[in-house]
Amino acid sequence: MLDKKSKIYVAGHTGLLGSAIIKKLNGSGYSNIIAKSHSELDLTDRKAVDDFFKKEKPEYVFLAAGLTGGIIANRTYPADFFNVNIEIQSNVFQSALKYDIKRLIFYGSSCVYPKNALQPIKEEYLLSGQIEETSEAYAAAKISGIIACKAYNNQYKSNRFISLIPNSIYGPNDNFDLENSHVLSALIRKIHEAKINGKDKVILWGSGNPRREFIFSEDVAAASIFIMSLDEDYIKNTHYNIGTGIDYSIKELAEMISGIVGFKGNIEWEASKPDGVQRKLLDSSKFLSLGFNTAVSLEKGVQMTYDWYLNNLRNTVK
Ligand SMILES: NC(=O)c1ccc[n+]([C@@H]2O[C@H](COP(=O)([O-])OP(=O)(O)OC[C@H]3O[C@@H](n4cnc5c(N)ncnc54)[C@H](OP(=O)(O)O)[C@@H]3O)[C@@H](O)[C@H]2O)c1
Repeated sequence: MLDKKSKIYVAGHTGLLGSAIIKKLNGSGYSNIIAKSHSELDLTDRKAVDDFFKKEKPEYVFLAAGLTGGIIANRTYPADFFNVNIEIQSNVFQSALKYDIKRLIFYGSSCVYPKNALQPIKEEYLLSGQIEETSEAYAAAKISGIIACKAYNNQYKSNRFISLIPNSIYGPNDNFDLENSHVLSALIRKIHEAKINGKDKVILWGSGNPRREFIFSEDVAAASIFIMSLDEDYIKNTHYNIGTGIDYSIKELAEMISGIVGFKGNIEWEASKPDGVQRKLLDSSKFLSLGFNTAVSLEKGVQMTYDWYLNNLRNTVK
């Protein structure tokens, strides 16, 4: 069972989710944490990964490393999104098994589900329909990871490999690059820059009507530590959705961000630009019934993210 002295490896600790996991672990008194930056340990390097596990023998692994990006990057580099993510998960899973970890969490993504899935999306809708084309290479790697977790559990007779599927994560250390960011961080940046530049309006992509569910990075971190600590009798060989259960239209989100940023101008919508999937709300009841609840409202989380953005402006803006 995970305890304060357990040896924990957080892969991807400089990223959005990995940094939140480190913060939560430190804040909760876990003292034996290993983290290696991408330049210290390239997880696509099979031998380096094996050497690392052999030397460190972590007991618990949070696999928050991966190649991530927005629509433009996914469209431009689909082969990289597929290869890098497949290699990372395959290398880490094999070494985790070989060096006998106690539990590992792999992170899927809501884009693994069919683009026209019934809402809210249940875990069993996986592989029941056509996925969104723009992110299909990335999604294919994630689907492989989810199936690999089940395969390892089945073959080696213990539910040590757990897949969590968080909906859109946001928070400190998010990517604010306009070419490569997700919607929430892109809106923060655009609305902040409109305010700073004294603009009387900001023009945003799409109709503003699609609805999305956002979850604060520290809530995903807390959910991950919660399931890492759970008695194994409660853990099933399945993937678990994790979201807040509340979705917002992009228009509502933009208005909330304008209020937090203090932008007084108008928001206009460029409806000729594509909207993407109209709704993506996860049914997280399976995970929540284990006894977990998210803690951070969207408004509070956006405020914390904006504060972080202001404090780290020079590093985040490209
Ligand atoms: N963000 C979301 O909305 C979301 C939603 C659902 C699931 N997820 C999943 O959650 C995980 C973490 O996502 P995130 O948003 O936190 O991503 P992120 O901010 O892009 O962080 C990714 C981390 O992985 C590291 N990394 C990338 N390639 C690596 C490699 N070859 N070897 C070692 N480290 C490598 C990165 O280091 P460098 O920056 O130095 O390369 C960074 O620390 C991913 O698997 C993602 O698919 C994310």
